[in-house]
Amino acid sequence: KQICELAYQGASTAVGLAEKLLTEAIEKHGAEAPVKYPDTAYKLPIVTALSGEDITTLGEIVPVLQRIKANNLRPEPELGNALLSGEATLYAGEIIEALRYVGNDQPDEAPYTGFLPDRILRKCGVPLVDGTIPGVAVITGKAKDAKAGAALVKDLQSKGILVMLVNDIIEQCIAENIKVGLDYLTLPLGKFTQIVHAVNFAARAGLAFGGVPKGERERMLEYQKNRVPAFVIALGELDAVTVAIGAGALFMGFPIVTDQALPPELQIPGLLEPQPDYDKIVKLALELRNIKLKIVDIPVPITVGPAFEGETIRKKEAWVEFGGGRSPGFELVRMADADHVEDGKIEVVGPEIDEMPEGSVFPMGIIVDIYGRKMQEDFEGVLERRIHYFINYGEGLWHVAQRDLCWLRISKGAKEAGFKIRHFGELLIAKFKSDYPAIVDRVQVTLITDAQVIDEKIKIAREKYQARDARLKGLTDESVDTFYSCTLCQSFAPNHVCIVSPERVGLCGAVSWLDAKASNEITPTGPNQPITKGECLDEAKGMWKNLNDFLYTSSNRTLEEVNLYTLMDKPMTSCGCFEAIMAVLPLTNGVMITTREHSGDTPCGMSFSTLAGTCGGGVQTPGFMGIGRRYVVSSKFIPADGGLGRIVWMPKELKEYLKDELAERAVQLGLGADFVDKIADETVGITEEEILPFLEERQHPALKMDPLM
Ligand code: SF4
Ligand code: NI
Ligand code: NI
Repeated sequence: KQICELAYQGASTAVGLAEKLLTEAIEKHGAEAPVKYPDTAYKLPIVTALSGEDITTLGEIVPVLQRIKANNLRPEPELGNALLSGEATLYAGEIIEALRYVGNDQPDEAPYTGFLPDRILRKCGVPLVDGTIPGVAVITGKAKDAKAGAALVKDLQSKGILVMLVNDIIEQCIAENIKVGLDYLTLPLGKFTQIVHAVNFAARAGLAFGGVPKGERERMLEYQKNRVPAFVIALGELDAVTVAIGAGALFMGFPIVTDQALPPELQIPGLLEPQPDYDKIVKLALELRNIKLKIVDIPVPITVGPAFEGETIRKKEAWVEFGGGRSPGFELVRMADADHVEDGKIEVVGPEIDEMPEGSVFPMGIIVDIYGRKMQEDFEGVLERRIHYFINYGEGLWHVAQRDLCWLRISKGAKEAGFKIRHFGELLIAKFKSDYPAIVDRVQVTLITDAQVIDEKIKIAREKYQARDARLKGLTDESVDTFYSCTLCQSFAPNHVCIVSPERVGLCGAVSWLDAKASNEITPTGPNQPITKGECLDEAKGMWKNLNDFLYTSSNRTLEEVNLYTLMDKPMTSCGCFEAIMAVLPLTNGVMITTREHSGDTPCGMSFSTLAGTCGGGVQTPGFMGIGRRYVVSSKFIPADGGLGRIVWMPKELKEYLKDELAERAVQLGLGADFVDKIADETVGITEEEILPFLEERQHPALKMDPLM
């Protein structure tokens, strides 16, 4: 078949080029020269995943490339050989790309991203498993015209798909003012071989979340086929190298839709199909990958989707802003009786946007009244926090903080598109009803922009916040008889189970005990199951019989016991999308914590990416544990290991983030308000030896605690 010949040709070209560039690089830098991508624990991920070699120097690449050349390049026109050509092309692409990083951590200029660090993968973990990001599209080539290409990308953005762009489509999007970049879940990878950064991203999902051991090629391919919802849209003419790259995608199990008319003998039903009509490309691709979308019709004149969550709107881009200390603002979700909620009603109390001059500041009160037969007062806070996300999903809308600290902006662009204050109501009503169908039967929204009315209503809101905080304070691990499981991440980490208790948030930071409770109410058979604690087997370490039983079954019998309150003995497992990670520091007799945001080295000798790579895939690793940021200030923070007083190092940013609560907890524990100043950070040192004198001088309590190990 012609396609096999093209794949073989293209793969030979790619491998030949890789060989040539490798030889040149070795001549220039020497065989010992280090080769690595920035910020990853997986070396050259495609090689690590598929054949398991830990490549660290140029010289080590030589035998790998030789083997691929000898084994994978087979001219006989068979589909199996075409896939092997595809695999060879991926290796070649990975090598060519890695060479660009020799002695240069950032070979690409904006807007190109090049290699995507592990941190981005881990951040995408939860949105990928909870369906916020239902799939990953890789678009390569050049659209028939810029408008059509831009419309395609916009369509994917509005559906929440993570988009990766390669080649001319990037310039086409930029020309059409499509927002690209990490903030928009639309990543312009670069040109030509930079497409392998989509593939090595997917390969790392298998290594980091799936717990697939490196080099287990068949298991990795199985994982890619069944769990990575990626597909390729190939635009423009198909030359040999493009076909070879396509064969690489097929090898990974990613279907391809092309806008080129393919004769039937070149099509592979279900895997490689043509669709010249641009309006139908996305639909076909989603079908081939079996991605089902929740269609929500939101009657607002702007695009709404998670792609716009990270969008910032600067002051000078804003038509009007609300709250943020410059004017009063608040948001409140209230449970209400059936007869006090008129479903779908939106009321604007005060001026509409047409009466707000450009650059003005107004107050904003958002009251969402909800009636639902299964609604509980406990869910008010859970639903209220969603307001932040729902509003941010709007293109041209910006929202930060919460409660009476909330701060909003509407961009000039959104105003121009016809966005009105009342549309906040439309957006919230549509999203609450679609995301929480089981607990939300009727919703009504009141938007207050009137300065007098807001002063009166904000008092009601503040009373509510106080009552809620009092309730949360009383919500301890002891005060409830039920914890919840979370197995949401099992779609990527099949053996991982989070146990969520009132005082221990899920390690992604996104699932609290109340969230889990609400989610169980919405989907009783879903990922959050109630577990009655039952008999306690170890009070200090936090082990319960029923939790063990549950864990055993739901971890596919890979885990028998878990302790909730220690890091050292049968600790909770990690999936991979943890916000922070902690590790033992033997020399200082303490523990350190580092976060996904902190890219620097740490006293355990590893950066976040490297550390994270040692811990994940649902395996217990005593001495290491993925956690949610807020767990640090919980009164159930590793009490069996000495609690908060064990922490000897954390990044400055985390200290700052938790500042007040850290001080408060330290006082409660009798560590003194100045305990925070005894915790070292990167400005003190990034090795155990560097921080030890600091800890000694400040008489850090961990130094006097029982030995950790
Ligand atoms: Fe994943 Fe655990 Fe968060 Fe659930 S709580 S989404 S399993 S990390
Ligand atoms: Ni936004
Ligand atoms: Ni996870």
